[in-house]
Amino acid sequence: MSVLARTDLAFQRCIDPACAATYSVDEVLTACPVCGNLLDVAYDWDRLRPPGSFEVFERKWLQRGDPLAVSGVWRFHELLPFAPRETLVTVGEGQTLLSVSDPVGAFVGLRPGRLHLQYEGLNPSGSFKDNGMAAAFSHARLIGARRAACASTGNTSASLALYCAVTRLMRGIIFIGSGKISYGKLSQALDYGALTIQIAGDFDDAMARVKEVAGKLGIYLVNSVNPFRLEGQKTIMFRVLESLGWDVPEWIVVPGGNLGNSSAFGKAFAELRALGLIDRVPRLAVINAAGANTLHELYERRGLRWLGGRADLAPACHYYDELDRDRRRADTIASAIEINRPVNLNKCLRALETCDGVVRQVSEQEILDAKAQVGAGGFGCEPASAASVAGARQLVAEGVIGRDERVVCILTGHQLKDPTATVAYHTTDQKLFNDTLGSRGVSRASFANRAVSVGNRIDEIVQAIDLYG
Ligand code: F0G
Repeated sequence: MSVLARTDLAFQRCIDPACAATYSVDEVLTACPVCGNLLDVAYDWDRLRPPGSFEVFERKWLQRGDPLAVSGVWRFHELLPFAPRETLVTVGEGQTLLSVSDPVGAFVGLRPGRLHLQYEGLNPSGSFKDNGMAAAFSHARLIGARRAACASTGNTSASLALYCAVTRLMRGIIFIGSGKISYGKLSQALDYGALTIQIAGDFDDAMARVKEVAGKLGIYLVNSVNPFRLEGQKTIMFRVLESLGWDVPEWIVVPGGNLGNSSAFGKAFAELRALGLIDRVPRLAVINAAGANTLHELYERRGLRWLGGRADLAPACHYYDELDRDRRRADTIASAIEINRPVNLNKCLRALETCDGVVRQVSEQEILDAKAQVGAGGFGCEPASAASVAGARQLVAEGVIGRDERVVCILTGHQLKDPTATVAYHTTDQKLFNDTLGSRGVSRASFANRAVSVGNRIDEIVQAIDLYG
């Protein structure tokens, strides 16, 4: 297959089937100019003739000298062929692992060998965002953008800043809410040299402002309303399948914030099925934090559905009005998903339809306990990522996920992104615990691994090791 010998082989298309307006990949759009809905990147698969089997991707592992074959995103270029090879940008993203974790599986309630953790914290900037950023930067290069912006709870901004610093293709401008970003993530943006604008508001405010500013100043937006970014995030699912020998698991469980990942995963599976590369899709579980639970509220409580694109989205508007009226703001220790107005809501509803999805919400206590279990299992993650494990546990307890089913939880971000939450959970300092977690309704740290304090004396140290070692 020749990737993009002709530019009309890839195009942008409105996700509303009644509109389905199409636009060239050369255009920079974050919504359909005709009807305002979200846009997909679409392909003329009949003419592109993608590979008839997965083997072509596996063979690329052998080409270690070619950065595009090694990239966990561009190894799958044939499945996201919107830009020619010469414009593709990689900093080595996507070298991530799918691992079975029986200790975490036991915590979740699954039989041995059934729980898999897809550890996206291994990406260059420490989160799954790099998958999408490689794709967004490739598109930005294609259209010649010089400045890029995003609103962020911290990981998109870290990723944008890193790609700017490494590639020198664009100047990065990031918008963050006040006091809403963990130091691990903030330090990345500052260190990589992005222009960091802290606005008086939260993520939802920052998102609204960056859209306005990007439109006004013609700055390239790399938030997940950018359909090209989601193309990169599809590859997380390709790698999961690759690790499972192309065998589709029963469940994918992912935290939900702005709903980019869940949307990308649904699109990935719909496309693989349409291409005949898989014959069934997994079920999808999207997990909200209870303090930022818009999707759960709309999907599980108010019955909002995609209905093949014929959804009446009025319940979402009513819900947002209620939030405004009651001055309710997203609030969770899982700051990465502290979002009340997910920009990809419509696409996520479509993904939930594709994958017969469910949505759950998990408490701060559940998130932190799951996070401690993930850490004890050897895969540290940040609080938002642990929502996937906490959600899987809930679904097993409910009997929605069977104990024998194969479940893949996506660990979206690295443990070191947010050490404050980790230290507060394991601390012996009651004040630190109360101030950081107690104030959020967390009453216990059941899986805490507390430091043992001893005097600066050999006998005390030996005694402590005898006692606890
Ligand atoms: N997990 C982590 C670690 C994240 O950083 C995010 C999103 C999510 C989960 C939610 O993913 O938006 O695809 O549903 N972080 C964004 C940011 C919002 O600005 O870094 P989603």
